[in-house]
Amino acid sequence: MKLNIAVLPGDGIGPEIIEQALRVTKVICQKFGHELITQTALVGAVAIDQTGNPYPDETHNLCMNSDAVLFGAIGHPRFDNDPSAKVRPEQGLLAMRKKLGLYANIRPVIIFESLLDKSPLKLERIQGVDFVAIRELTGGIYFGQPQGRSEDGNTAFDSSVYTRMEVERILELGFQFALKRNKRLTVVDKANVLATSRLWRQIAKEMEPQFPEVTVDYMFVDNAAMQIIQWPKKFDVMVTENMFGDILTDEASVISGSMGLLPSASIGIHTSVFEPIHGSYPQAAGLNIANPCATILSAAMMFEYAFSLMEEGALIRKAVEASIVAGAVTEDLCDDKSKAISTSAVGDWIIDYLSK
Ligand code: IPM
Ligand code: MG
Repeated sequence: MKLNIAVLPGDGIGPEIIEQALRVTKVICQKFGHELITQTALVGAVAIDQTGNPYPDETHNLCMNSDAVLFGAIGHPRFDNDPSAKVRPEQGLLAMRKKLGLYANIRPVIIFESLLDKSPLKLERIQGVDFVAIRELTGGIYFGQPQGRSEDGNTAFDSSVYTRMEVERILELGFQFALKRNKRLTVVDKANVLATSRLWRQIAKEMEPQFPEVTVDYMFVDNAAMQIIQWPKKFDVMVTENMFGDILTDEASVISGSMGLLPSASIGIHTSVFEPIHGSYPQAAGLNIANPCATILSAAMMFEYAFSLMEEGALIRKAVEASIVAGAVTEDLCDDKSKAISTSAVGDWIIDYLSK
């Protein structure tokens, strides 16, 4: 098969972790006889510095003309600490999601047996955790208008807006995932307060009869935040709006012991994007210490979701798991930091394993 991939390393640790994911992708393509074509483009702070635009047209055109996008991370403290900045790296990510129509972000939450002791939660609560969070990605308060400031600058406002079409398509995906898994769907909202949430709940209830095999429950987001920590095993498929999904998936990521382990797939109308759920971790940029596993696992999702190459994806997952079992891990997964190995050494280990 021919794999035409756009590579967007972005900021901070982005280039380092992407490099390892790309090496793994190359080895897998060699092993399974696929032709890999990659082209790299700018996004985020680095794109602002070079072009003034965090998601340049050239990058968008490349994404549109590729079969999949492998994305690193964006963000820079220079912008975080300057609320008056007119252009921000995050706008690049949001523009990319919107222009590619990536309305669904799929974030699987799994536990690695060998890392059970790394979780901040007690063993009996996390053993067997395996759920998928489906986050709506192109609507809600991230994009709703109006957004801004009053003329005197003393009042600021964001709007959460959802249309029936946006809610239906993401819930449909949630039901489909539930059907393929353990047939339990949790719709997370704040229907006791928000009008958008009441629309979500109304539409979910309307759709329920189309999926009689799926058991649906409805949970307020504050309760969900608590349940994720208390009984994460309860969840099978969780579907929620953009901002709730952003927050809950960061929370869910620490169940596995490190944010550096969770991959994601953003899918929708045009080319799908595969990216780790963590950010650009600027403090670690250039130090060769960041955990590349979330990005390597995102490449695994890319093989599966973008190309339906399940065996390839499964092998990458197996290799990552083996590296963790062998203790070939970066410092985020080591109590004794002197035992940690570098980002590129984790990549080396996984490549060795795949080359055997
Ligand atoms: C994520 C990130 C982004 C988001 C930021 C970087 C804009 O936190 O992908 O979860 O909020 O969506
Ligand atoms: Mg986030």
